[in-house]
Amino acid sequence: MAPKMSKTKTVFACNACGAVQHRWAGKCPDCGGWNTLEEQRLDAGASRDPQKGLIEGWDGSTAEAAGAVPISQVDAQGGRVNRLPSGIGELDRVLGGAADAQQGIVEGSVVLVGGEPGIGKSTLLLQAAGAWASDQAGVLYVSSEESAEQVRDRAQRLGVGAREGLFVLADTNLARITEQVRKLRPAVVVIDSIQMIYKADLGAAPGTVTQLRQCASELTYLAKLSGTAVVLVGHVTKEGQLAGPRLLEHLVDCVLYFEGDRFHAGRIVRAVKNRFGSAMELGLFEMTGEGLQETPGGGSIAAEETGSRPGSVVCPVMHGSRALIAEVQALTATGFVGSAKRKASGLDANRLAMLIAVLEQHGGVRLADRDVFASSVGGVRVVEPAGDLGLLLAIAGAERGRGLQPGVCAIGEVGLGGEIRSVAHLEARLHEAARMGYTGAIVPTPHRRGSMPKVSGIKPDPVRTVGEALERLG
Ligand code: TYD
Ligand code: MG
Repeated sequence: MAPKMSKTKTVFACNACGAVQHRWAGKCPDCGGWNTLEEQRLDAGASRDPQKGLIEGWDGSTAEAAGAVPISQVDAQGGRVNRLPSGIGELDRVLGGAADAQQGIVEGSVVLVGGEPGIGKSTLLLQAAGAWASDQAGVLYVSSEESAEQVRDRAQRLGVGAREGLFVLADTNLARITEQVRKLRPAVVVIDSIQMIYKADLGAAPGTVTQLRQCASELTYLAKLSGTAVVLVGHVTKEGQLAGPRLLEHLVDCVLYFEGDRFHAGRIVRAVKNRFGSAMELGLFEMTGEGLQETPGGGSIAAEETGSRPGSVVCPVMHGSRALIAEVQALTATGFVGSAKRKASGLDANRLAMLIAVLEQHGGVRLADRDVFASSVGGVRVVEPAGDLGLLLAIAGAERGRGLQPGVCAIGEVGLGGEIRSVAHLEARLHEAARMGYTGAIVPTPHRRGSMPKVSGIKPDPVRTVGEALERLG
């Protein structure tokens, strides 16, 4: 008699890129990550359809599979979706929706909120959960890392401790969580965090790729079937590693990253993917003793003063539909020809290298034997080309010990030929600069006469070349 075939098959999934291999290796052949392959067992008999079981278990009905239909007969949504606003404007705008209509989380959508541990994800989501909750819309906050008492304590500190319609569940078991959703029928479920949730019959440890994927995809189906919006919270490390929520990005409708550094109070919620809105939006907050406060104007993220300092230049950069005041700083120090250091933080290192070359070639600033350090201050990354001119003036200013006139900022892209190129949204940038108390701005010369935007309170100072711009350093 032939030996019985084994019913289970073992494969190895990479916890960084998610690729599946048939044999174990120290290095993932797909992404090159070391020691990232995890054993995963496939039961031959078990269904791999994640919808199965969930549909049957959801509300007793069996969902009918939708057939293909001619595209002209598909009901047009006309871009209209039902949204639930939280009232936290900075969050609602990032979640999407037209500015003059409703903004907020979309019914039945799945939102992934990623960020480093300790950055404030639980704080933000608990505040949002409190804001979403009302007697008509229930919100279930599933805490898989903290006890219900800890959540209650925090909720009280955040002023949502007595909010009607806000439910807390401290559990990590997916089946029990689904069961509670079935009972409560909340408008929003927050899962904090998805990395600790497990499905009992999977036979893999919580936090592994298998569990992470399976639990997230079942929760996604749950959202689509029930109309409940699901928010998944996931930790990422600085390198974006560790059974990353990155694996889940394709699965969800909206990906938000919560950024900032723990040593500053400023926090940014950035959309990197949004099926229901712009993926360029940004929400600004500040961490205080009473939780996160909205700072639509930039608050402490904005440059603290409008005075001038050598090596420091302010430039209004665009994030989505809005302009923000960012400050770039540079420092030059003695280095060695051929091995001079160029370090960028919060800036694009390639652009830094390019601007140094442009300064040497077209600005007459010799930097071959100078170490150059440059950074964006206060947490707003400056990666837009429109920040070039600011960075260029910061480097030249640092090297020469000169600054711009007080109250003057700089806007412009720098070309390889040393020309200052025009940028998009000049008017919005000037408005924001004027609002923040800047009275002058070095800007690219417009192509057409008279096409310079007029913004009250701020005087544009057009320049054509790097040479002309350098003359503005006092
Ligand atoms: P937390 O939301 O727990 O971070 P995450 O869920 O991303 O790991 O927030 C952690 C930090 O926030 C913690 O160090 C304390 C600080 N914090 C405040 O400053 N004010 C507050 O009101 C709260 C609740 C937290
Ligand atoms: Mg947390």
